[in-house]
Amino acid sequence: MAVITEINDLKRIYRRRVPKMFFDYTESGSWTEQTFRDNSGDFSEIRLRQRVAVDMTGRSTASSMVGQDVAMPVALAPVGLTGMQSADGEIKAARAAESFGVPYTLSTMSICSIEDVAQHTTKPFWFQLYTMKDTDYTSRLIERAKAAKCSALVITLDLQILGQRHKDLKNGLSAPPKLTIPTLLNLSTKWGWGLEMLGTKRRNFGNVVGHVKDVSDASSLGSWTNEQFDPSLDWSKVGKLMEQWDGKVILKGIMDVEDAKKARDLGADAIIVSNHGGRQLDGALSAIRVLPSIVEAVGDQVEVHIDGGIRSGQDVLKAMAMGAKGTYIGRAYVYGLGALGQEGVTKALNVIHKELDVSMALCGRRSIDELDREILYIPVDFEGRWQRR
Ligand code: GLV
Repeated sequence: MAVITEINDLKRIYRRRVPKMFFDYTESGSWTEQTFRDNSGDFSEIRLRQRVAVDMTGRSTASSMVGQDVAMPVALAPVGLTGMQSADGEIKAARAAESFGVPYTLSTMSICSIEDVAQHTTKPFWFQLYTMKDTDYTSRLIERAKAAKCSALVITLDLQILGQRHKDLKNGLSAPPKLTIPTLLNLSTKWGWGLEMLGTKRRNFGNVVGHVKDVSDASSLGSWTNEQFDPSLDWSKVGKLMEQWDGKVILKGIMDVEDAKKARDLGADAIIVSNHGGRQLDGALSAIRVLPSIVEAVGDQVEVHIDGGIRSGQDVLKAMAMGAKGTYIGRAYVYGLGALGQEGVTKALNVIHKELDVSMALCGRRSIDELDREILYIPVDFEGRWQRR
């Protein structure tokens, strides 16, 4: 078997193994994909400051996110359709996260249901909420997450309507895949994936199919979002959801200081600086570029997390040194899952951990709470040559 030393090794295997429509779903941004590219490209504009002859013994990447201990400050982000990347994918990813000691976030649009993931894991995971027009359903979903002992609710604020991803429309993305001629031709080259998928019952959106009525095509993410997602979600509704949950809340999709302040005022435990991996508003700035202004405005009052573009431990290090208190990987672990199942997610976590640990040490730091901007070279115009008004 190929020697895996970096996230891109997993991506290469993933691409070979998984049907094109699911690879494309992962590897897409909306419209021109400018924001998708900038999210990772902008990390490489930041450089690290090498320090020497610092005692490197006794290092640790341990930290905490919303008061929960983590082996490193890297949670698994919510990713829709994860169980189409590998049979029972959400269970595999949650198990890998649990044994590594990092949080796993289950998406509302997962294949395995909340109950199913809870039954097959031993530690609490986090649940990501999309709100539906059917308010009873949303309310039941929150109660289901409580009953499953989820230890944080991640409310996504930037997807009441779906940003257009051209490839998903062209591929006819669905779960399970519809057996059109192009799809059948592609599936005929993906035997390993197909045999595993035939061996599981979990091939639909487990949290929603059978729980919500009146969807024209229950296998399509596009139909769900168009027909069922609640476009009227606003701050007052967010406040009500938080009241019902009555536990740790993380608000996801914050890209603006004004919105960060609103989230703080509502009493969120954390916010995630995120443009949904470049999958929603194409043309938005990258997450890492807006992180500094949000940390400066609210960083001492609410935990600021970030996702978008993180593919390495050096990216984690840069985000933490810029003031984030936690980071998330989405694509980076999905590559591992699609390539090698649970073991692939563990490999992705190990790769990122090793990169983080060694790079931190070479910057002369031994622990996560010692990270600050002193270890970075940040371009003078990093926050933008752009004028807002
Ligand atoms: C859904 O969350 C998506 O980004 O596809």
